[in-house]
Amino acid sequence: MRSMMRLTLNGKRTTLDVHPLKRLLDVLREECALTGTKEGCGEGECGACTVLVDGVPVNSCLVPAAQVAGARVTTIEGLDGRHPLQGAFVEHGGAQCGICTPGMIMAAVALGRNPTLHQIRVGLAGNLCRCTGYMAIYRSIAATREGINRKDRRERRVKRSHSQRSKNDRPRQFAGKTSR
Ligand code: FES
Ligand code: FES
Repeated sequence: MRSMMRLTLNGKRTTLDVHPLKRLLDVLREECALTGTKEGCGEGECGACTVLVDGVPVNSCLVPAAQVAGARVTTIEGLDGRHPLQGAFVEHGGAQCGICTPGMIMAAVALGRNPTLHQIRVGLAGNLCRCTGYMAIYRSIAATREGINRKDRRERRVKRSHSQRSKNDRPRQFAGKTSR
């Protein structure tokens, strides 16, 4: 028995005609062709199938489709390959065979911009990796955080120097007027 359901999938309003008890993991992979979300254990133990539902990481192998009706679901495809974490995982060896990687990245996205090492460890405790020994994954996330911070600092510096320049310009114009 299939039924219609609506959700926002990777930012797009989507209507699906699916069995309400079909696993979200299968809905994503089979009905939506979003095969970036992987199946590992299929029983909520490994985190390979992690996606975000309303910003919260969930194991999509445990979630029936009906539970995400009206929700915002984000998969690895929703990051468009442009999220800084994706580049950092490649650069710092956080991705090896790649099976755990989409789930790791989605769980890491949910940690926000400035997670501490402790928050990273706790946030990723439900995501298993057989290849990396975890340190490369932690390093990748930490590098992203530092990269973002470096970018923030650069942007703040540029803004400060622009506002400094416009402050410096103002008195010169004023002085020019009064000297006439
Ligand atoms: S496949 Fe879902 S937790 Fe392992
Ligand atoms: S990179 Fe292979 S399981 Fe994590």
